[in-house]
Amino acid sequence: MHFHDCFVRTRGFSWDVPAGRRDGRISLASETRDIPPPFFNLDQLTQSFANKGMTQEEMVTLSGAHSIGRAHCTSFSSRLYNFSTTSRQDPSLNPLYAAQLKQQCPRDPQGSIDPNLVVQMNTSPSLLDPSYYADIQVRRGLFTSDQALQTSPATVTLVNAYATNGVLWQSKFIQAMVKLSQIGVLTGSDGEIRSNCRVINS
Ligand code: HEM
Repeated sequence: MHFHDCFVRTRGFSWDVPAGRRDGRISLASETRDIPPPFFNLDQLTQSFANKGMTQEEMVTLSGAHSIGRAHCTSFSSRLYNFSTTSRQDPSLNPLYAAQLKQQCPRDPQGSIDPNLVVQMNTSPSLLDPSYYADIQVRRGLFTSDQALQTSPATVTLVNAYATNGVLWQSKFIQAMVKLSQIGVLTGSDGEIRSNCRVINS
């Protein structure tokens, strides 16, 4: 394995991934079925990562990627407006944060939400950093799946460790990303080795 070529870089930190992986020539949004839905609870999340050979600890570690990017309102709006029969708003969501999200994701008079509306995942959406874990501690996890990390002693311990020790999180995150990059690699003559990891060969 040669650790060079595909250099993944954000403003936060960067790492090398093993080069020479065979990838598919087709990438479809409709085929990203391996990503668990945002309403999964902790057991469901743990199981879906286990199905890919990833541990619960790695799942908690990789969830920190939600410190960057954006999400469509429709991915979490049930937490704001129609959570359950007893509580319209998810009680595990910080009320101030919920109020802010409702402003960003308003319902029209028919009760629907514009499917194109997006919000930032985090206050620093272009910086890959451990702020995700501090957000979780104050019930500012955007998805049910984010807040689910506060529902077991083992995952709470990890969230607390990562919130206070960013260097620990960063090193675990890099290890888990390298492991993740080795999952589902094509073999034999399937797919191709990309000369640029982001695009199919022309
Ligand atoms: C733990 C289970 C996970 C769930 C349930 C989940 C779910 C989601 C959902 C629903 C979105 C927003 C999609 C949208 O509304 O546009 C999202 C975005 C994102 N996820 Fe995850 N995810 C998970 C794990 C991961 C992992 C392991 C990574 C990477 C290591 C990751 C990185 C991202 C990034 C970077 C975005 C933002 C994308 C953008 O800005 O367009 N997620 N995730």
